[in-house]
Amino acid sequence: MKSALITGANKGIGLETAKQLSKKGLFVYLGSRDLKKGEEVVKELLEKGFQNIKAIEIDVTSLQTILSAKSVIEKEKGHLDVLINNAGISGIMPQNAQETSVDHYQEVFEVNLYGVVRTTQAFMSLLKKSPEPRIVNVSTSVGSLSLQSNPNWPAYDYAKFVVYASSKSAMNMYTVHLAYELRDTAFRINAVCPGYTKTDFTNQAGGDVEVAGNRIAKHALIDQNAPTGKFFSEESSPETGEIPW
Ligand SMILES: NC(=O)c1ccc[n+]([C@@H]2O[C@H](COP(=O)([O-])OP(=O)(O)OC[C@H]3O[C@@H](n4cnc5c(N)ncnc54)[C@H](OP(=O)(O)O)[C@@H]3O)[C@@H](O)[C@H]2O)c1
Repeated sequence: MKSALITGANKGIGLETAKQLSKKGLFVYLGSRDLKKGEEVVKELLEKGFQNIKAIEIDVTSLQTILSAKSVIEKEKGHLDVLINNAGISGIMPQNAQETSVDHYQEVFEVNLYGVVRTTQAFMSLLKKSPEPRIVNVSTSVGSLSLQSNPNWPAYDYAKFVVYASSKSAMNMYTVHLAYELRDTAFRINAVCPGYTKTDFTNQAGGDVEVAGNRIAKHALIDQNAPTGKFFSEESSPETGEIPW
């Protein structure tokens, strides 16, 4: 049975992705920075008939919690097949390029970039033991430099997220480098935008979480012929799914 770890999975898109991967037969470690919240969610899922889901404490800003989670997974499974770096924050709003202070950048980068780097590096040795390792970095089309600088892009005049968008652009570049370093291996590593989705992150505005979860889960399940080092957004590019960095 393949195993997956999803960070920030106690609610929102991470939770929905956990449900979908569990239904597909994976063993899912549901990452939650508050273990109690994660355990409550897992209890509800098991009562609803979901199987093979376990809550695990991970705060992506804390290397200690990441390494403890790694020890648990190493002991229980010996390897990890799928890592979904989903945990993310937007930071305070409004944000603008002229005034928002570096403190706010640090807070958001701590989770959205350094959290991804910390988690990925910690789990690399377990992922390397999988025959077909997959990493999905949950990104956003507003982190695309090409789209955000294109006056014809529908969201061009909606540039209100400079801190959040910068953190995701930086995470995108990390994805590109990681995929490059592992290009001649069985790893498939991509950045995927779930689309504007109804979660606490958007004050419950946007599309259905089931659609977003499916967009992420499908990239956790790609086969060896699938691309690596790409950026996908079905919302922004319904025809090919791929968008420019
Ligand atoms: N919703 C959208 O429209 C949208 C669009 C594009 C991309 N995304 C991306 O999708 C991902 C999930 O977002 P969402 O909409 O599902 O948001 P959400 O409902 O607010 O969920 C965010 C999750 O991240 C967790 N988290 C925050 N800081 C963390 C930390 N330091 N360590 C571990 N977990 C942490 C939260 O835990 P707590 O419950 O403890 O706070 C929560 O489980 C994010 O990366 C976001 O940038 C969302």
